[in-house]
Amino acid sequence: MTERYDSAAARHYAAYRPPLHRVILERVLRPGEFFQTGLDIGCGTGYSAVALTRYCGRVLGLDPSAAMLAAAPRHPGITYLHGSGDALGQLPVPAVEVVTFAGSLFYAKSGELRKELGRVCAPGATILVYDFEVFLDAAMAEAGVDQPAPTGDYDHQANLSGWAEFAVEVSGAERIQLAVSGNEMAHLLLADSNRYDAFLKRFPNRDPFEPLAGILNARGGAIPLPVGLYFTRYRVLGK
Ligand SMILES: C[S@@+](CC[C@H](N)C(=O)[O-])C[C@H]1O[C@@H](n2cnc3c(N)ncnc32)[C@H](O)[C@@H]1O
Repeated sequence: MTERYDSAAARHYAAYRPPLHRVILERVLRPGEFFQTGLDIGCGTGYSAVALTRYCGRVLGLDPSAAMLAAAPRHPGITYLHGSGDALGQLPVPAVEVVTFAGSLFYAKSGELRKELGRVCAPGATILVYDFEVFLDAAMAEAGVDQPAPTGDYDHQANLSGWAEFAVEVSGAERIQLAVSGNEMAHLLLADSNRYDAFLKRFPNRDPFEPLAGILNARGGAIPLPVGLYFTRYRVLGK
């Protein structure tokens, strides 16, 4: 079972994500680097698409979850598309110069996706695969849920290795520590449907956000949030 994003979880996903998309893009893109068109596959509620607008004239944000897209902010530089990485259809551009997968490649990776990337990418296009992992077990325990919901076989370091037409240019993994407020931590905890369900059990018959944020805010001060960052930049060969 991987993470689920139904409408309750999507609301909390949209309410707060750690500001790490920009941090990671600065590690894989050169200052001033600019692309005409970017495609963010698995854009969710738009955080990764918004981060990409800094480097692109136009961004296409694609996601199969209508609930996630409905929570994405309107942005003049972004066109949201409802769809999946394995069937990109006719994109409203002749070719894409940069593709991003921010926490989405694990879900999207398939033989069809590989073919679709070959079809829609411009010669020499850039593909950025990145993710971050927030370590929430301590906050779960503090909020009274000792058994974290199972995260299944999700792999934060899913990549394109074995697909020889994509050559690695930059790759890295880092551990950093952020500090978040009680409300921000509550949104993070409720942003996945499995954890949301665990907190519904802990606080039956009510919206779990308020009691959860109450517990986390009562400790006073910022809450440490350990985070793992993973990123790889590829160049599309042979086109
Ligand atoms: C962890 S979220 C990441 C969202 C966004 N990129 C971000 O950084 O906030 C993973 C997203 O991948 C999407 N997804 C799942 N299967 C997919 C597929 N086959 N193709 C494209 N996206 C997919 C999900 O709907 C979800 O919105």
